[in-house]
Amino acid sequence: MVTAISDPILDIRNLTKTYKGGNVALGGVDLQIRKGEIFALLGPNGAGKTTLIGAVCGLVRPSGGTIEAFGLDVEQNWRQVRRRIGLVPQELSFDMFDKVIRQVRYSRGLFGLPSDEARIEEVLRALSLWDKRDEPIRKLSGGMKRRVMIAKALAHDPDLLFLDEPTAGVDVELRRDMWEQIGALRARGVTIILTTHYIEEAEEMADRVGVINKGQILLTDDKASIMARLGRTEAHFILAEPMTAIPPALAYYPLTLEDDGMKLVYRGGDGTGKGKREVAELAQDLTRNQIAFTGLETAESTLEEIFVGLLTQPAEAAA
Ligand SMILES: Nc1ncnc2c1ncn2[C@@H]1O[C@H](COP(=O)(O)OP(=O)(O)OP(=O)(O)O)[C@@H](O)[C@H]1O
Ligand SMILES: [Mg+2]
Repeated sequence: MVTAISDPILDIRNLTKTYKGGNVALGGVDLQIRKGEIFALLGPNGAGKTTLIGAVCGLVRPSGGTIEAFGLDVEQNWRQVRRRIGLVPQELSFDMFDKVIRQVRYSRGLFGLPSDEARIEEVLRALSLWDKRDEPIRKLSGGMKRRVMIAKALAHDPDLLFLDEPTAGVDVELRRDMWEQIGALRARGVTIILTTHYIEEAEEMADRVGVINKGQILLTDDKASIMARLGRTEAHFILAEPMTAIPPALAYYPLTLEDDGMKLVYRGGDGTGKGKREVAELAQDLTRNQIAFTGLETAESTLEEIFVGLLTQPAEAAA
């Protein structure tokens, strides 16, 4: 089930975290991230997403396991690793009275990099913050504040960027905008790991998706494979003439008759892309058997349905 990734940019092995008081936030996480990919970590509240990111970024002290980034053990090569990592935390945090541009400059300085006004301008322009550069942060809207957080995380040109719920509380338009920005970063070669509650975000942006629940990664896979493996296909053939029974010639297919025999419904596919293929074959078989249909509607399960299915049937998903 775990896809082997050669030469990962991030390699997490058996990572555990038990908080003081006995709260087990991570129960042995293995995760490898490919260079240049966008990886979306999906999971409900309290799943362990922020803890996992915190462990990589040095904000959370792991209880056990190892983390390698850029081929280096994170604990032993802390400074070297940290300056190549950018983090946009879930909680907004900055000096609200400070000006946008000063905060972004300051972040770059934190990593000991020489000042580079051209780079700061580039980052601010890319995030449409250039016009707001002299505004105190407290005057910005919530979505704009989140952009400043991203600008800060980019100021030192990280190779690996963590975005912990980057679009929480951001309106639809700004969210689309941010997806674009994130896509542009990927195009520049930045590897991105984001957490989200929005399935559509993972669906829209990610190359790969990991589902985490109760400190355990339930599954990681290419987005398309998850869709194919777990996705079911439903197809409704609207018949020209009502049917009283499914003809023996079609007995092979998982079919039901609905709407008083006016609708022939296919529900199948085991996740190998079989569903789509069978629907196409079924359409030919119908024609071959002189069964006319006037309409066809198909639907694939969304990541959201898959996700809910995984969380309610973890044993099956792990099989
Ligand atoms: N500082 C802390 N001390 C004790 N328990 C903590 C601490 N931080 C997190 N936890 C617990 O660890 C578990 C994982 O929390 P975490 O914040 O990593 O989840 P999350 O997936 O990021 O959730 P959300 O989607 O709500 O942001 C939860 O049970 C949480 O209550
Ligand atoms: Mg979180």
